[in-house]
Amino acid sequence: MRYGGWYKIAFERELERELTTIRVGKKRILCVRSESGIAVYDAVCPHRGADLSVNGKLVGNAVICGYHGYRIGLGERGSHPFCVRKYPSLTVGGLVFALLGTNDVGALPRFLEELVRSHEIIPGWQKSIRVAPELVIENAFDAAHFKPIHDVKQVFAKPPVVEDGVFTVDATLRVGPSAWQGGSSDDDNTYIDVPLLARAFSPNLTITAIGAGGDKPHYVIAGAVPQPDGTSLVRLSIAMPRPPDGSPPDRQVAELLLQFESMGLEQDRPVWENLTTDITPNYLPEDATVLAYREFCRRFEIGAAN
Ligand code: FES
Ligand SMILES: [Fe+2]
Repeated sequence: MRYGGWYKIAFERELERELTTIRVGKKRILCVRSESGIAVYDAVCPHRGADLSVNGKLVGNAVICGYHGYRIGLGERGSHPFCVRKYPSLTVGGLVFALLGTNDVGALPRFLEELVRSHEIIPGWQKSIRVAPELVIENAFDAAHFKPIHDVKQVFAKPPVVEDGVFTVDATLRVGPSAWQGGSSDDDNTYIDVPLLARAFSPNLTITAIGAGGDKPHYVIAGAVPQPDGTSLVRLSIAMPRPPDGSPPDRQVAELLLQFESMGLEQDRPVWENLTTDITPNYLPEDATVLAYREFCRRFEIGAAN
């Protein structure tokens, strides 16, 4: 785990058992499901390193470790000789977020609270990809790749800003109807402009508002979690605006958007999975936003050994 900050650590549906370990790079993170919801801790027993979800048993606010049977306190030490660290977490719309490392809580809890007032979250899909998470997240800010990889005609992007600790880029993508609506027009004069506002809350999490005209935008919530083998697990969700009459959002549209995002990731995959990352790059002026994003990432750095 090279970076701290907020991770979209799991879909709630993955955490059916009381104790589930999620790998975040070399780290093991314990998700505990109880009547009071989901809470997140270190998963490694301080006695001699067992994974607390393996053969462990949840008893009140402790886990009986499955290796030697000691009682390991969750969070506070209390009367237990051993305890594991608790991490701030959020469970929203079927998504579980955890704040790892030492960064501030920042704007994410407020942002999600606001979002679910007007939108419904559809948890979506997960995919494994052989690239570091920060490259997946960086993609939203790499305007120069949109044309060759995603068939975007033009990108108009404002310079990035960091607002409330969130790296934010306001842009408009000019796309052909074929790319956006599943049509088949190759006519270069036919296009639509799609405004988007991309926000990185950490090097592992972006939430992008995508919307046209006076409609409420939909949101793409993309998380990338490093795996022990250097690959990433990408979890992608959509937040759909609720219609004014209170009816649920159109599920079919949501599914199409999820498919569209999946297609986008498959377009990136061959480049990412064959990328040489240890060359000295020759950046060009249009890489300025990517460089600003990398600078933003530095404040989350905790070192690859974690
Ligand atoms: S490793 Fe957990 S009790 Fe020994
Ligand atoms: Fe991309």
